[in-house]
Order: sequence, then structure tokens, then C-alpha cells
Amino acid sequence: MFEATTDTAALPTPNDDALGHSAQLVAAVQAAIAQAGQAISLGEYVHQALYASNLGYYAAGTRKFGEQGDFVTAPELGSVFAECVARGIRRVFAQLNHADRGHACVLELGAGSGQFAYDCLLGLHAVKVKPARYYILEVSADLRERQQELLATLPHDLFALVEWLDAPPAKPFEGVIFANEVIDALPMERFCVTAEGDVRMECIDTDMATASGLRSVGVPATAPIAEAVASLQKELGGGDPWQLPFESEIRIGLADWLHSVTKSLTRGVVLFVDYGSDAAELYRSDRTSGTLLCHYRHRAHDGVLLWPGLQDITCWVDFSQVATSAVELGWTLDGYTTQAHLLIDLELDDVLTARFENASTTRRLRLASEVKQLTLPGEMGERFKAIALSRGLEHGLLTPAHTSLERRL
Ligand SMILES: C[S@@+](CC[C@H](N)C(=O)[O-])C[C@H]1O[C@@H](n2cnc3c(N)ncnc32)[C@H](O)[C@@H]1O
Repeated sequence: MFEATTDTAALPTPNDDALGHSAQLVAAVQAAIAQAGQAISLGEYVHQALYASNLGYYAAGTRKFGEQGDFVTAPELGSVFAECVARGIRRVFAQLNHADRGHACVLELGAGSGQFAYDCLLGLHAVKVKPARYYILEVSADLRERQQELLATLPHDLFALVEWLDAPPAKPFEGVIFANEVIDALPMERFCVTAEGDVRMECIDTDMATASGLRSVGVPATAPIAEAVASLQKELGGGDPWQLPFESEIRIGLADWLHSVTKSLTRGVVLFVDYGSDAAELYRSDRTSGTLLCHYRHRAHDGVLLWPGLQDITCWVDFSQVATSAVELGWTLDGYTTQAHLLIDLELDDVLTARFENASTTRRLRLASEVKQLTLPGEMGERFKAIALSRGLEHGLLTPAHTSLERRL
């Protein structure tokens, strides 16, 4: 139960500095275990491994995004993705802003390198849309610094719109909240329904006999996890939907997080893009070992205890959970579709036509390759999905023709 299955020995080895950094994070995890007086849940471990101050993967200074990092996200491929989202923001702002004065804002969650914000602000400028504010809510102090450095290179009037927040905006606002690949970076718990039908969860304990100084243990699930698994089983059709033993992941705190980041948006749209699927697909009976993956230098593996702090740890987003939680919080489900359909709906055609004009052949080939990566089924086109939620608007963000997957939620 809860054992890594891929051969992590085939991965590139980190240098001594990086290994020293990881050892400090292991010591911090061991201290947390000692303080708790028992093994900590996988979610608590992942929270430390990704976000521990100065040590966690997202909190410390290594390069994560792009070719020299560990993974590539859609905004890192080029500016097409952000320019399409800017067109979507224009659609929402057209319903919110009065002709003479714009008050609508953008709030971006988890802005990574800042590349999306950079291209989105230029994209908005190109279609003559000026947000009153472009807020960024970023948990990593290191990434926030990098975002500031990059965005300071924008024309001054665009940079002046950007404001970093330490917490979700307290004051009510209208506009658009956007997040790309942020939900998948929220800590997850791992559960196992055993052959006997018991629900167990993964915890992490100190073990000086192992190479990492840590080990995974299976313990009876806490009440919130057992309840969440039971309600998942019910949602999937009741009875016993899975081949046992069945292991998977679940994000217990998702509804609270959603509430905290969206509660101040009084009118507008929330758009999340991420990899994942509806619950029926994600928790398919034969997917018996979940979707948890670690990313290190463009290699994916499932060794969650390997080099804490040096690798990303993530799992698929359950979009049914996002939709259900959002509707309970009073949001209207505006649409759920693939990334390819999202971009087509958000005027990909127009964006490309504008970019092709006067572009050199080399530039056109580069653009074609970027669009292929964003939209082809074997690339990001189908694995990545988009969910749009709206409140107080006559028209949502997506046109109904592009919300084909909605019935699956
Ligand atoms: C996988 S990266 C994606 C970065 C960027 N959106 C992109 O597409 O390139 C996840 C980002 O979310 C941030 N993050 C994680 N949890 C967060 C939270 N609770 N609130 C805001 N940002 C968060 C991370 O620090 C990081 O910037």
C-alpha cells in the first residue's frame, strides 16, 4: 500500500547543494512529526515539501518552469494562451464596465514565473481593455520576487496596475479570477479502500533506516477522509464501485480554499485551467493507484519521498468536486470543457491571424508548434480542462457550443 512503483534510480541525480537543501527540509518534516507526536498525513507532508518557508519546492529559489526547470505550463510555451484568456476577460468586462469608466479587476492566483500576467496585460492592452487592478495572490515569496522582476519590464502604465496581495481581497470587487495549474498544486491526501473494504490513509513517519529518513505508513483514515471517500463512492453510483484494493487521492480542503479565494468577487467569472477530469473518469474502477506524480527535470515518477523540496508533487484535479463545491457556494456553472475548446472559444483564430500578419516563416512555424502543444489531444489539448463559474452575469464566459463536457460533471 502507498508504495512507489516507478524506478527512481533512472532519474538525474541532484548536486550536493541541492541534496543539502533537501536534507534540511527532511529535518523540518521530522521535527513536525516529533511535535505532532505521531506520523503526519500525506497532505501535511506535501504542504511542507512544496511550501515550507525558504525550503519548500515553490518557496525556495530553484528554477521550476520552462525547459531548464521541471515542467512546462501553457503560459510558458508562448503568449497565445494568455492572449486568448485576455479575450475572455474582455468578454466579461464588456458586461461589467460602464463605457466611460472601468472598475472591473483581474485576480490571478498562483502566478508562477509571472509570464501569464505579463502576456495577459499586453494582450488586454492590445484589445483596449484596462483592468482597474491586476491583483496577484501568490503564496511563494520567492516566486513573488521573480514575478515582480519580470513585470517591472512591462510599460510603466501596465506595471502600475499590478498589485500583489498577501491574502484574498477583503474588499468586494467585480471582474475575473484566473488560475492555471494552481489547484493541482494544492496538497492532497491519499486513501486506500482495502480488499476488506476498510478505508486507510497514507501518513509519513520518521525512519532513520531509510535513505530519505522518512517512510510511508497506512493508518485508519481520519473521520473527514473516511466521510469524503464514502460520499465519493455514493456519488459514483453507490455500492462498491471499485476493484479492491483501490488507492487514490482526494483534496479535503478544496471547498474551503475555493470559498476563501472567490468570496469577494460579487459579479464576474472564475476560470480554472488544470489537468484532470470529472470524478467518473478520475476514480474509474480500474485506475487503482491514483494519479499522484512527482516532476523532476521533466521526468515524472511516483516517489513522493524522494528529495523533498527538489521536486513538484501533484495529482489530477477532480473537476466534479470543483463544480459541486462551487455550486454549493452559490456560483453558477458556466461551462466545463477541454483546453483546446476553451482556446477555440476564446478567439484562438483571431489571435493567430493577428500574430501571423507580418511574421517571418520561422516565427510562423514556432507559433504553429505552440498551438499544437496547447490544443492537440496527445499534448495539452484534452488532458487539460477548463471550468468557468459565474455570478451576476447575463452571459457567462464560454459559448454553450464549447461546454460539451458539462454533462459529465
Ligand atoms: C504549477 S505552478 C503554476 C504557475 C502558473 N500559474 C503557470 O501556469 O505557469 C503553481 C503556482 O501556484 C502557487 N500556489 C500554490 N498554492 C497556492 C495558493 N493556495 N494560493 C495562491 N497560489 C498558490 C505556487 O506558488 C505556484 O506559483
